[in-house]
Amino acid sequence: MAAAATDTTMAPQAGAPGTTMLDIAGLNVSYPVYEEEPVRAVRDLDLSVRRGEIVGLVGESGSGKTTLARAVMGLLTQPGRIDSGSIQFDGKDMRALSENQLRAIRGRDIAMVIPNPRSELDPLIPVGKQIAAVARAHLDIGRAEADKMALDMLKAVHIPDPARRFRAFPHELSGGMAQRVVMAISLVCSPKFVISDDATSGLDVTVQAQVLDLLRTLVREHDTSMLFITRDVGITAHFCDRVAVIYRGEIVEFAKTGDFFDNPQHPYSVMLLAAFAHNPALRNKWHKPLASTEAEAGRACLYAPRCVHREDECDARHPDLRELGTRHLVRCHFPVERVA
Ligand SMILES: Nc1ncnc2c1ncn2[C@@H]1O[C@H](COP(=O)(O)OP(=O)(O)OP(=O)(O)O)[C@@H](O)[C@H]1O
Ligand code: SF4
Ligand SMILES: [Mg+2]
Repeated sequence: MAAAATDTTMAPQAGAPGTTMLDIAGLNVSYPVYEEEPVRAVRDLDLSVRRGEIVGLVGESGSGKTTLARAVMGLLTQPGRIDSGSIQFDGKDMRALSENQLRAIRGRDIAMVIPNPRSELDPLIPVGKQIAAVARAHLDIGRAEADKMALDMLKAVHIPDPARRFRAFPHELSGGMAQRVVMAISLVCSPKFVISDDATSGLDVTVQAQVLDLLRTLVREHDTSMLFITRDVGITAHFCDRVAVIYRGEIVEFAKTGDFFDNPQHPYSVMLLAAFAHNPALRNKWHKPLASTEAEAGRACLYAPRCVHREDECDARHPDLRELGTRHLVRCHFPVERVA
């Protein structure tokens, strides 16, 4: 997506409406493996998120979503490393920043909401104080003001009886409430950009819907940009402005949400969508189990072993991401014309 990269360099004023908030270009991230080829978790990845925009990143387990999120935050887990590429955030080259500079940006300008909230919270400190501590660490404010901000955040995330819950310890909260507290921690400094990494996956469906609605409302109210990571393509339909599909570390489709759902063009996207349809014939048509004899490696198109559209060319030439409609990007030699 060279166009997105150009947008950023041309941006008259970082953070102005319509400008690119996050611009990732040609990013490669790998995990070295002892005496074997490294795992290429993110491959030549281009992705942009504009100010105030919610971009969904959808892909199955192990496709590289968390690796991408952590690379953006400068928080790759060992032994992960960025091999090449650029990450521009709000006009800053994230790869050129020192650890201290990154620490100042994390929590203040970029925040991450992740699942398993209990592991995020200190069991020995009341939750209100934990929210206030994040505000004090990043904003030039005193204790009383930070406490007030924390209480306001507890109200904003719809925690019942917020004044009492301010003093509660994490074990006294339900899973849904703990997730709301983690959201409050992430949002208390009004970050410009939020990464939600499968944040509601551990919650039951009803609570999940409530938490997601709330997250969306808060993000929209503050004109915050968001990268919304999920394995569930269905959630993105009403949640995101654009949807990117990632397969084995590569973006295979990226389009406005309406275009993506009306006219999915990559066979993997169609397979994901068909899996949600209440139509077994459609599901079977697009799903091809990976034969145990057919290794995933060594194919020019990474999706070839599972693709129902595969032709000889797919094994010979790696497909580029190309624009097949207005800002509708697809990585496929034989894109799907009509899903039936
Ligand atoms: N710390 C690590 N060391 C080695 N390999 C890793 C490490 N973390 C991730 N990987 C590998 O990188 C690839 C991408 O993993 P990642 O966790 O980014 O996927 P994901 O899309 O977030 O999956 P999930 O939906 O299960 O969270 C996988 O092959 C995974 O095994
Ligand atoms: S390039 Fe070929 S194998 Fe790959 S997704 Fe497209 S049709 Fe399928
Ligand atoms: Mg993950």
